[in-house]
Amino acid sequence: MRELVALALHQELAEYLSLEEISSLLETPKSVQHGDVAFPTFALAKVLRKAPQMIAQELAEKINPENFEKIEVVGPYLNFFLDKKKVSAKTLALVCKEQEKYGDATIGLGKNVPIDMSSPNIAKPISMGHLRSTVIGNSLANILAKLGYTPIRINHLGDWGTQFGKLIVAYKKWGDEEAVKKAPIQELLRLYVDFHERAETDSSLEDEGRLWFKKLEDGDQEALHLWKWFREESLKEFQHIYDMLEITFDSFNGEAFFNDKMDEVIDLLEEKHLLKTDRGAEIVDLTDYNLNPALIRKSDGATLYMTRDLAAAFYRKREYNFDQSLYVVGNEQSIHFKQLKAVIKELGFEWYQDIHHIPFGLITKDGKKLSTRKGKIVLLEEVLNEAVASAKEQIQEKNPTLENKELVAHQVGTGAVVFHDLKNDRLNNFDFTLEEVVRFEGETGPYVQYTHARCASILRKTEWTVSTIDLNQSFALNDEDSWEVVKLIQAFPSTVLKAAEKYEPSVIAKHAIQLAQTFNKYYAHVKILTDDAEKQARLVLVYAVKTLLKEDLRLLGVQAPEEM
Ligand code: ARG
Repeated sequence: MRELVALALHQELAEYLSLEEISSLLETPKSVQHGDVAFPTFALAKVLRKAPQMIAQELAEKINPENFEKIEVVGPYLNFFLDKKKVSAKTLALVCKEQEKYGDATIGLGKNVPIDMSSPNIAKPISMGHLRSTVIGNSLANILAKLGYTPIRINHLGDWGTQFGKLIVAYKKWGDEEAVKKAPIQELLRLYVDFHERAETDSSLEDEGRLWFKKLEDGDQEALHLWKWFREESLKEFQHIYDMLEITFDSFNGEAFFNDKMDEVIDLLEEKHLLKTDRGAEIVDLTDYNLNPALIRKSDGATLYMTRDLAAAFYRKREYNFDQSLYVVGNEQSIHFKQLKAVIKELGFEWYQDIHHIPFGLITKDGKKLSTRKGKIVLLEEVLNEAVASAKEQIQEKNPTLENKELVAHQVGTGAVVFHDLKNDRLNNFDFTLEEVVRFEGETGPYVQYTHARCASILRKTEWTVSTIDLNQSFALNDEDSWEVVKLIQAFPSTVLKAAEKYEPSVIAKHAIQLAQTFNKYYAHVKILTDDAEKQARLVLVYAVKTLLKEDLRLLGVQAPEEM
């Protein structure tokens, strides 16, 4: 809508304002009585040295009226009323033509975007925080792909570091092979927690742990063998969750992968005289950035999380020659990523600017942070299973004869968890209550899925398919209810762009909710299947809503069952 208005205004104002400037000045009137889009003329008054009211008057007479029902002048404002018939006919024909490709763009063609996402730690349960990273990263990948970019989903596993030395010690002292095989993560976590409890009274344990990590870094056979085994067992469990969410990765190169790739960075740092020694440790001073120093090497020579992230950043630049490099990681690590960028900048590489930390808030329970300390953990797999069970109960109640109940319950249950995660601005913390998440009403995933299935059912009933539609007929609609729906359909392409620009899947989730709500209002007011001149246009509207709800959900990583 705004585009049409901006274009019409730009034809008259090109000398004074760019298309973007005009777009940014446009407003949405509070009440529909004042039209669809408003343009305030104050900004022009200075340039043209005329009263805003006069400018508004003159512009109203000049503007090409092609796409407008009327253009009203109210004081300094121009209120645009779009031509409902024209806009709905054009928009609906375009969706019929492009189908699920509606909104696709080419701005990202030939541009690689590695996305560091999920990245759980081996031998620990995958947390709700990792779930957030997984689903936000996956959705950003889908959104960017729609715009032509090539996303690369990277699982930067936490599979290296001193904790593995500790784990090896704990396993050798108190571990049991069978127990690990039976429930790997639970058992490894138990050993790890155990280690820390004992280390509180026995300080030699920490030293032993450090020693074993050093052995691991140096390629000791026994250490490597145990580490590999822990890693494989953990990965198997993570894979269950990825399978449930139907998320795949292009790379599982985690921290360990960079064990033999850190020298390059350390050499570079030395060459540029950036390494300083501080109490035996090697650091990069970042006082100029108002940041704590970046720790590169500990006094015993062991490398750190930061060292491996530096190696990974250089590796990704070389391997993918990225346009942007994204890190979907909790807000609590924002200093780490500031340091990472600062060090790359200090090294003189301009591409530090293309590195973007995409932070997100916490999932809470009754306002408190969920914690993994001391074995108190919320197991993600349990949450997903409970959501599926709850979906199944509701489906059983609402639609007992539905075929593929198991599959649909799975799609609704997991989809509900994912949608709930993505519907709020990513930086917000939010509470997780299962009942809230799997409700079929309100602003939930199941509500959007349900609306999609409703559209599918209407089309099924009349055996309407898009493949047989004649695109030369007119799909003009002229009523207020359909107009609200058409506006949201028309806004879809710019919504996808906005989601990508802000790295914000919630923009898509909000579009889905609004479209579902607006369509359901329409459905309550208008008889779609009445035989009259507009019936075909109404069916196309239903088709467009169905297509876009499905596309919104797909971009979020949520399935859209045809029936539920
Ligand atoms: N494994 C880390 C954690 O769980 C997250 C890693 C994020 N990615 C990165 N390149 N630092 O906290």
